[in-house]
Amino acid sequence: MMTFETYLESHRGGALNDDLVIVLREIAEATRQISDKLRTSSLAGLTGATEVTNVQGETQKPLDVISNEILLEACRKSPAVAFAVSEELDTEVEVHAAGKYAVIFDPLDGSSNLDVNVTVGTIFSVIAATRSQDILQSGRGQLVAGYAAYGPQTTLLLSVGKGVQIFTLNAAGDYVMTAANVTIPSDSKEFAINAARRPSWDDVIVDYIDSSIAGGHNMRWVASMVADAHRIFNRGGVFMYPADRAKPGSGRLRLLYEANPIGFLVEAAGGAAIAGKIDILDIQPTSLHQRVPVIFGSENEVAKIRAAYHEERMAEVA
Ligand code: AHG
Ligand code: MN
Ligand code: MN
Repeated sequence: MMTFETYLESHRGGALNDDLVIVLREIAEATRQISDKLRTSSLAGLTGATEVTNVQGETQKPLDVISNEILLEACRKSPAVAFAVSEELDTEVEVHAAGKYAVIFDPLDGSSNLDVNVTVGTIFSVIAATRSQDILQSGRGQLVAGYAAYGPQTTLLLSVGKGVQIFTLNAAGDYVMTAANVTIPSDSKEFAINAARRPSWDDVIVDYIDSSIAGGHNMRWVASMVADAHRIFNRGGVFMYPADRAKPGSGRLRLLYEANPIGFLVEAAGGAAIAGKIDILDIQPTSLHQRVPVIFGSENEVAKIRAAYHEERMAEVA
């Protein structure tokens, strides 16, 4: 049995230095605490919404706030963390002046699913950052990334660069490896998209969805990106929250704490993650809460969409 702790130890001195081992241990501990809070949230009255609106203009749920606080505490307990960046914080928080990393997180992803007891998650990424301006670097610079999915089981996905490992929380509160070196199947006949937004999709997405349906593809949409991603890590598929015709270039999901960590995990598992014409991981961020189009999953399906965007660009040039 390989525990999360043993796994970290096996990479100490390799992909992970002593500081990163501490950071990851604290993040894992934070996800355990969030998992506990979620399990009893209705009993504890942690339902509904607060009266606070975050920097995204979204109303915070009590569990958004609590999860954010738990992760901030994990950063405070890790001396190497210089900055914390979160969906729920207006700007970066300085944690330790002598730190050298930034921990970037979406404390609870899919929080609209909280009160209906559907899987939600925590997404995180660690990058090197000694100065605040270091935070705005492309996703290629990520050192580690992962997510916890809180569903029937609490599972933790982690990549320290190469490979993706899955750990499951056991009854004793320990993460135990349940899948090693996960790979996303290159082909699939399943897509995930919020079909209600079709009027605002561009032609590439409309054509892809129409031809997929004609080709017998099935649709699945949980509306928690972590849960949709977890399905894709297990059996392939494509997730799309594409550009919005009404707002060119933008999307719904945020680059730093949603698209980048998922893109890092997807590529480490042999899949592909694009924003349209370019890889998500190649986007140079311009602000902490920047939104980008997100398309990821099975390599050959994402390649079809990438090619279509490329052809569209060629048509524009011609
Ligand atoms: P968050 O709860 O962190 O704001 O993120 C929710 C995101 C993502 O998880 C999901 O894919 C998408 O929003 C759902 O959007 P719709 O409301 O369009 O279904
Ligand atoms: Mn989210
Ligand atoms: Mn969130």
